Amino acid sequence: MDDLDTLTTSLLAEIGRAESAQAVEELRVAALGKKGSITLLVRTLGAMDAEERKAKGQAFNVAKDRISAALDARKAEFSAREMDARLAFEKIDVTLPVRHEAQGRIHPVSQVIEEITAIFADMGFTVAEGPDIEDDWHNFTALNLPPEHPARQMHDTFYLPSRPDDGTSMLLRTHTSPVQIRHMMSGKPPYRIIAPGRTYRSDSDQTHTPMFHQVEGLVIDRDIHMGHLKGCLEEFVRAIFGIPDLTYRLRPSHFPFTEPSAEMDIGCTRGGGELKIGGPDWLEILGCGMVHPKVLEYAGVDPAQWQGFAFGLGIDRIAMLKYGIPDLRAFFDADVRWLRHYGFSASDVPTLAGGLVR
Ligand code: PHE
Repeated sequence: MDDLDTLTTSLLAEIGRAESAQAVEELRVAALGKKGSITLLVRTLGAMDAEERKAKGQAFNVAKDRISAALDARKAEFSAREMDARLAFEKIDVTLPVRHEAQGRIHPVSQVIEEITAIFADMGFTVAEGPDIEDDWHNFTALNLPPEHPARQMHDTFYLPSRPDDGTSMLLRTHTSPVQIRHMMSGKPPYRIIAPGRTYRSDSDQTHTPMFHQVEGLVIDRDIHMGHLKGCLEEFVRAIFGIPDLTYRLRPSHFPFTEPSAEMDIGCTRGGGELKIGGPDWLEILGCGMVHPKVLEYAGVDPAQWQGFAFGLGIDRIAMLKYGIPDLRAFFDADVRWLRHYGFSASDVPTLAGGLVR
């Protein structure tokens, strides 16, 4: 027993004197390791008779626990000290002025999202968001897309593996329109939002990529009519392209979630393989219409009291048109040389005409 007491006392003293985490670790091995002094002492229990083993065994355990606890505590002290030292050393002075690195560039899609957001913010719109991975109900059903609608086909939409519980499949949203539903269900009317984001379709050629970007717009109030839709979109196309008298037309069309529906064309000039905004030709730019009463109903909004319009447009195409970028696929190649050429400076404040006077 005396051996144990002496050993314990001297070990505890040594632990107290240890000057580094490594010294503590060495002491742990020396005491509790395979050939450690305590371990060897514990082994002598084997040679004792049952009575003696019982009495001493307990004392051994107590000693072992004390030493172990002392080792842990000492080690924790060193870790804390080390952390303090690192924190002091790695301190960042957040009051230093920003260093303008010429390296990073803003992707044209991000730039155009900022520009579109700025235009609609001036008209009182806020930005709403929804998930890229949607369910069938938000993407199709609640938007009044019937089961036989082609957009629902396997070869048009990316479906995730079906869920084992109910057999339904989540999907990559094919448009930003489900955000209309999510936004209406998240609060009471009136609503005035845009929802920019990624969208996905099983499509790939020079002018289509499987992932692309859209902005949705939704305005619901007591007496919103097509005149508001027209005024709002006129303001938008003229602002985004920086052409105050840009011609446009609303051409009757069909979407299951709007009634009546229209597509908006803007004036353009074609020739020599080039496409310029402004001119006698027409270029289709977006889909829009008055939100279908059934859609309002699905979203829990009373169509007898509320009505309004929605629109959806492709962001990537706007970026290509506005900044003269010929190939859509290059948008998503992550080629730094391309980004250096077509990208925008990170320290630029996004302005409506920012890119035009670059
Ligand atoms: N969601 C439609 C599309 O992707 C666009 C649209 C949105 C049309 C809102 C009308 C109203 O083609």
